[in-house]
Amino acid sequence: MRSYTLIAPAKINLYLEIIGDRPDGYHELAMILQSIDLADKIDVRSISVDTIRVHCNHPQVPTDKSNLAYRAAELMATQFPEAFSKYGGVEITINKHIPVAAGLAGGSTDAAAVLVGIDLLWKLGLTQSELEELGATLGSDVPFCVAGGTAIATGRGEQLSPLPVLDHIYVVLAKYRSLEVSTAWAYKTYRQQFSNSYIRDTESLTARANAVHSGEIVKAILDKNSTKIAQKLHNDLEHVVLPAYLQVLQLREVFGTQEGVLGTMMSGSGPTVFALVESEQQAQAVKLNLRKAIPDEDLELFVTRMTTHGIQVTSSV
Ligand code: C5P
Repeated sequence: MRSYTLIAPAKINLYLEIIGDRPDGYHELAMILQSIDLADKIDVRSISVDTIRVHCNHPQVPTDKSNLAYRAAELMATQFPEAFSKYGGVEITINKHIPVAAGLAGGSTDAAAVLVGIDLLWKLGLTQSELEELGATLGSDVPFCVAGGTAIATGRGEQLSPLPVLDHIYVVLAKYRSLEVSTAWAYKTYRQQFSNSYIRDTESLTARANAVHSGEIVKAILDKNSTKIAQKLHNDLEHVVLPAYLQVLQLREVFGTQEGVLGTMMSGSGPTVFALVESEQQAQAVKLNLRKAIPDEDLELFVTRMTTHGIQVTSSV
C-alpha cells in the first residue's frame, strides 16, 4: 500500500479588505496571503478497506466529517469513483503544529495536502488549477494553500494572482491557546456593523477588488521593502474581533511597542496576532520580551519565517 508524507504550511493575511456582499452569501474580498514555515505534517496512505479514516495527535481536532481533511478525501472519492474503487480507502494522519481556529488556515492547509496526496496516491495527474478548483468547493482559503507563497486573493478568496514570493521576513506569532474565533461569526458581525458601507453594484465591487493589484502594499512587496510592507498591513476584521476579544487587542498593543517590530496585525479572523521582524535574532528577542510582558502560560508564541511554497511532498513509500 502506497503512502505520501506532505508538509502543509500555515498562512497569514498581510491584507484583508471586505468590499461587499456576494450573491452566494459570502463576502467579496481583496486579500494578500502569505505562507509561513509553521506547518502540519500529513501522511496519506491507501488502505485495503473502502473507507476514509482520519487520525490526529491534537485532542481538539475532530476526526469525522466535520474535519475539512476528511471532507477533502470524501470529495476526491465522489469526484473520482473509479480510482476510489481501484485503490481502496484512504488513511490520513495529521501531525498538528498549527494552532486550531487561529486565523492561520490550519484546517484549509490540511485539506489542501489531502487533495495533493490523493492525487498522487491515485495517479490522477491533476493540474494545480484543477486542485485549486476542487479546493474552492471545500473552503475559501484551500486554493491558496495548494500553491502557497505570496498571492493576491479576490472573490471569496479563491481567485489567485501570484506575487513575487517573499521569504526574507520573520514572523512572530502570538495566540492564546484557549481562545478561538469563529470565522463565520467574525464575518457575520462585520456585516451587522458595517454593511451600510458595502459597495453594492457588481461593476464597482469588481473594480474595487481589482484595485488591490495596484495598491501600495503590492508595490512594497514588488520592491521587497519589509518596512513599507509592515506599514501597509491591514485587516478589516480587526474592527469586530479586537473590541470583542480584549486579549487580542492587548497583544496588538504590546507587539506594537516592541523594539524591532516593523508592523503588527491580526491574521484572518484571528485570534492570532503576528509581528513582522527583519532578522531571526530580533524575532527571538521580540518573543522573549513579549513573554516577559505577558507571563501567561495560556499564551503560545512562535518564531516563523515567510516561505515560498504551499503543499510539499517530503517522502513516498
Ligand atoms: O470558506 P470558509 O468555509 O473558510 O468560510 C468560513 C465562513 O466565513 C463562511 O461560512 C462565511 O460565513 C465567512 N466568509 C465570508 N466571505 C468570504 C469567506 C468567508 O463571509 N469571502
